[in-house]
Amino acid sequence: MKGGYAMKLTFYGHAAFLLETAGHRLLMDPFLSGNEKASVKPEEVDCEYILLTHGHEDHVGDTEQIARANDATIIANFELADYFGDMGLKTHPMYIGGRHAFPFGSVKFTIAHHGSSLATSKGRIAMGNPAGLLIQAEGKTIYNAGDTGLFLDMKLIGEKHRLDLALLPIGDNFTMGVDDAIEAVRFLGPRQVVPMHYDTWPLIEVDTGGFADGCSRAGADAHILAPGESLEL
Ligand code: NI
Ligand code: MN
Repeated sequence: MKGGYAMKLTFYGHAAFLLETAGHRLLMDPFLSGNEKASVKPEEVDCEYILLTHGHEDHVGDTEQIARANDATIIANFELADYFGDMGLKTHPMYIGGRHAFPFGSVKFTIAHHGSSLATSKGRIAMGNPAGLLIQAEGKTIYNAGDTGLFLDMKLIGEKHRLDLALLPIGDNFTMGVDDAIEAVRFLGPRQVVPMHYDTWPLIEVDTGGFADGCSRAGADAHILAPGESLEL
């Protein structure tokens, strides 16, 4: 191990990440069993918290199974927290603009321009508004944009926070594509960037080389992680 690293981010494929920080394990958007490119199976995941950006199937994924197996707390918007709370799972509801201090650090919900429905036994139901996540722990700030298009308020996020890492969707069609994600890097000014939400299906295949070059022109280091790869912060 290289000296001094305390925080570790592991990419599980699509928009699923495990963040290990200050002795805590945070799972984000665990879409695993439905993704043949995912690097872990739901039953292999060890976590204390599950953070959800929105209600779509490719983000909620295996949340119920993993939360039950780990007795994990689901941090999500009010509607998703209510949905999982009714199943007897531990939840912490939040909403856009709100910050809360957890044992690992703080989480703030930010805007995202997208949808947030989920197919259930009662049909497809609305699951509140989609969000991004600002996670602060161990003196570092990580921004997970969630699924979103480019928006000018990313400049405000960049002005108010010195971002050590931004997780940005680049797959186009459902979210920002490569060019808009590079513009997002200019707005946000993160030190490092990890792209997500691409290459899972043919519809969202992109050229990650073009993204890495664009990020370096925008002043950030892009880390193109294959599923299973990690980044130390
Ligand atoms: Ni989505
Ligand atoms: Mn998605």
